[in-house]
Amino acid sequence: MDLSCTMVIFGGTGDLAHRKLLPAIYNLQYEKLLPENFTVIVVGRREKTDEDYREEIYRSIKAFSRFEVNGEVWNNLRDRIYYWSMDFLQEETYGLFNRFLSEKEYQYDTKGNRIYYMAVAPEYFEGIVDKLHRHCMDEGIKGWHRVVIEKPFGRDLNSAKYLNDKIVQVFQEENTYRIDHYLGKEMLQNIMVLRFANMIFEPLWNNRFIDHIQIFSSETVGVENRGDYYERSGAMRDMVQSHMLQLVSLIAMEPPNDLDTKSIQDEKVKVLKAIKKMAGKDIEENTVRGQYGSRRSERGEISGYRQEARVAPHSNTETFVALKLYIENFRWAGVPFYIRTGKRMPEKSTEILIQFKTMENILYFKDKQLQPNILVIRIQPMEGIFFQFNAKEPGTRQRIIPVEMDFCQNCRVGINSPEAYERLLYDVMRGDRTLFARWDEVEYAWKFVDNILEAWKNHPPIFPNYEAGTWGPGEADKLLQKDHRNWINR
Ligand code: BG6
Repeated sequence: MDLSCTMVIFGGTGDLAHRKLLPAIYNLQYEKLLPENFTVIVVGRREKTDEDYREEIYRSIKAFSRFEVNGEVWNNLRDRIYYWSMDFLQEETYGLFNRFLSEKEYQYDTKGNRIYYMAVAPEYFEGIVDKLHRHCMDEGIKGWHRVVIEKPFGRDLNSAKYLNDKIVQVFQEENTYRIDHYLGKEMLQNIMVLRFANMIFEPLWNNRFIDHIQIFSSETVGVENRGDYYERSGAMRDMVQSHMLQLVSLIAMEPPNDLDTKSIQDEKVKVLKAIKKMAGKDIEENTVRGQYGSRRSERGEISGYRQEARVAPHSNTETFVALKLYIENFRWAGVPFYIRTGKRMPEKSTEILIQFKTMENILYFKDKQLQPNILVIRIQPMEGIFFQFNAKEPGTRQRIIPVEMDFCQNCRVGINSPEAYERLLYDVMRGDRTLFARWDEVEYAWKFVDNILEAWKNHPPIFPNYEAGTWGPGEADKLLQKDHRNWINR
């Protein structure tokens, strides 16, 4: 497959480009996955020369690449990186910019194929796409033009629809790549393999055998320097609408007919459509929001969310969400899915836990419950699969204890799994959209989230309600306790 292309990154001086995108490009080069005919044009507002940018990005690649910086690999890449300074919304500059692109295309023989990566604040998406349309995509274009849109894709259903309409006027759906970087994580790609390549799991993967599912993603960091973005977003839009619901759909989907993009995405969308819509009272009972407050410890004081830079002193933005949802279909009716995500929690971890129903106490433990079988899919920081089952404790007495089988993927195949962005950028070059969100996935995810956000508006929260460095507000525990369950990681 010919992957020749020019990759244009809008927002090249930002955090994403420095920490993720350029290191991912370097990793691809290191692994010899980049095509011969390739160039990167980074667009930023600040004035800089190519050399300035190359030096800066070299430092970031050193810090964030998963490989050592190798002189030969870097030299091969560095000369193909260019910096172009312009105001993203200034119409007049695009003509000149397009001439520069065409020159580089000719120089590197990239066959007219272009990737436009929007690593900018969402308010620029529409303006940039519109100007690209008018100045960089004239009738005579050769090759394909693809656009990659970073999240957040809108801030509610209406704004997402508006943005989508603007994009599809310029790029067809098959050339639109909506990023959800969780889909690029190794273990997410492993979920389908685990489910559909193992006879032992699939027959049990339903409401007859599964008691409940927990999906959580905790972070130790606060909002860092993204206060202004986060104030408009909050954990519900930032994590639940995208990453958490993607995890739900992968865990709950039916086996697709085929491994092609459409078949997989069709099944994922069916899950999102089947999530039970909650009415006012259910939302009150089944959702919990939180915001971290400051914490003093021997190591000093950690600021609360309201003290972070570019955050309003009385902000009611949530930095934590826990909720319970049901999927109304034959497979999942009656099985609760508990979701929890938050910032400033005790550890960084993303896991999916599947708890099976307990055996009837016919033979063993007539007076005491047997422990349930538990399957945990560990997504990060360590990747792997953990399974808990019951076994006889060695000895003369008849005692049963829970024991575990623990597959540590990092220990087995090395700690150095590809970074999510590496896989995703490579897929954009290959034209594979399987690990990107199709429009209707985004649409149904917003429907679910909008409904809750709307109801929350009627009940202002009392924030802050959890201390930085803890597992979130007590109500999140009660959400499970009232169903006689507990979060697994505490
Ligand atoms: C991003 C969110 O999409 O995902 C961030 O905007 C969050 O707020 C990040 O920190 C978490 O990603 P990861 O890969 O570190 O779990």
